[in-house]
Formats: sequence, C-alpha cells, structure tokens
Amino acid sequence: MEQKKIPVILDGDPGHDDAIAWVLAKASPMLDILAVTSVCGNQTIQKTTYNAQRICALIGLETQVAMGRALPLVGDPIIAPTVHGESGLDGPALPEPAFPPHSKSAIEVMAEILERHPEPVTLVPTGPLTNVAALLLAHPELKSKIARISLMGGGVQFGNWTPAAEFNILVDPEAADVVFSSGIPIIMAGLDVTEKALIFPEDFQRIRAVGNKVSQVVADWLEFFYGFHRKMGYPGAPVHDAVAVAALVRPEILTMQEMYVAVETQGEYCRGATIGDFRGIAGKAPNAKVILDIDRQAFADLLVEAAAYYQEKEA
Ligand code: BDR
Ligand code: CA
Repeated sequence: MEQKKIPVILDGDPGHDDAIAWVLAKASPMLDILAVTSVCGNQTIQKTTYNAQRICALIGLETQVAMGRALPLVGDPIIAPTVHGESGLDGPALPEPAFPPHSKSAIEVMAEILERHPEPVTLVPTGPLTNVAALLLAHPELKSKIARISLMGGGVQFGNWTPAAEFNILVDPEAADVVFSSGIPIIMAGLDVTEKALIFPEDFQRIRAVGNKVSQVVADWLEFFYGFHRKMGYPGAPVHDAVAVAALVRPEILTMQEMYVAVETQGEYCRGATIGDFRGIAGKAPNAKVILDIDRQAFADLLVEAAAYYQEKEA
C-alpha cells in the first residue's frame, strides 16, 4: 500500500542550504509539496523569490511559488552576502524560472492552502519566521490547520550571527516569538544540530559522481557554501536547512529533546537568542522538540540518495 504523504509548505530565503533542503524535499516520496514561499533573509525578497523560482525550474518542482514579506515584522532587514553571495545563491548557473510567481502573497497562498486542504499541513520554514508569524497574526483561526512547524532556526547553546543569536531568529525575533508562543508543535533544527550536519569535501565528490544535472549543481552549491565556512575553520559545510526536512523524512537519524524555548526580543547582548529550558526550571510545558544530534554519515548518505533521485527522473 502506498504510504500517505505529509503535505508541506516550504518557506525559505534561498540560500544554498535552503536550496539543498528543497532538493531533499522534492526527492522524498514522503512529502507532498503544496507550495514554496519566499521570505527576506539571506537576500532581499526580490532575490530570494527569483532564487526560489530558479530552484523549482532546476528540480522540476511544479508547485506555486509565492513572494513573502519584504521586511521583518519590526526591525530592519539583515542580509548575508558574505555567506551566500550577492545573488543570495551564487555559484553555478541556474535555469531561468519556468513560470512567474503567484499573483497573491505568500501569506494569502498559505492561508488558502490551510483553509482548503483536507488535513493539517506541515510548515517547513528555513529562513526568518516573518511569513509564518504574519500568517498566524492575520489568521489565528487557521492554527489548528497547521500540523507542525519543522524549522531551522536558533540554537539553545550558542549563536552564529552574534554570540547569542542564530541568523534566522536574529533577523526577526518578534516573528520567532509569535511562532514559539503559538502552541503549534515545533521541531527545532537549531545550530545545536545543524553545526553537526556537516557535509565534507569527500561528500561533495560523492554527490558530484552521481552524475546528473541536479547533483552537479548541488556539488557546486556545496563548494561555494563551504568557501565561507572553510575560512571560519569548519571541516565541512553545515547544511543547516536540510535538517528541518530530514526531521520529517528521516527522524530516526536525529536525537531530540522536548523543552520550553523562549525567544529574547530585547536585550543588549541577547536579542534573537533562543533560551532552551533544559532543566525545566521555568516550570513551563515544552513547546518544542529541540534536535541536539545527528548521525552525520546517514545525513550525508541521504543527500547522495536525494541527488540520485534526479538521475532516475532524467533516465
Ligand atoms: C541559517 O542562516 C542562513 O544563512 C541559512 O540559510 C540558514 O537558514 C543558518 O544560520
Ligand atoms: Ca535559510
């Protein structure tokens, strides 16, 4: 009997690791991708939307692509050209978009899907949580239509953009606060695990050796993305965003701990920090499954397998 697919909306700011997360999502027989939505983060909303369209063209993802919010809920945008380049997805040449973005905004498209879909939908945000928060603020009645949120963001032990804060949460802490306070089940792929989700140069070679168009592009993306991290002393590329997808398709390779996570929206040093209550000191019910560890080899193998999916498609 065919396994029932998990309906998902992929919301991101591509971004090399967002792109690889979507390559993995499309390759999985377990996911039914209902829409792709863009958000401002790694680059401006125009650039992340264009990148989302180009990724869809590359991997043959024929779903609606809708443009999300151009600005965080409260603060000014922060972009990351040092990590992802001026385009937000520098490196290999990509096909031009196969179709224009949806005429409606990401929030409208998400709301329509949630209203109409017969079962609750899983959101997979891999950028700042601006769109998801805007959706919850505009449509609180749709909360029960969201099965869970499997997100990349935060870190209960350390940050990467400040000592305390991870990029996606730092860009829009108010949005993250709305999401973590929503009561919707959250799976949090933060830096605690994603900095262990390292893809080494020898893995790039395995992916390249798969020998199809998508695998070549993924290997080139990894090379580009690793360029930044190599200078920082990483032994491989931390493919952060793909862990939020792995949490849905291969949860057995991850170690999670349920806990209460608060988002710091104030603070001289800690704006954007995610505070994990490891010891239950606050006496609050857990609001997130925080992923703390990963079987790195299995994760690398998963990306190689995903690349091979596109081979079969081309055959
Ligand atoms: C996150 O920041 C972005 O640069 C990546 O795409 C990822 O979502 C990691 O901190
Ligand atoms: Ca991202």
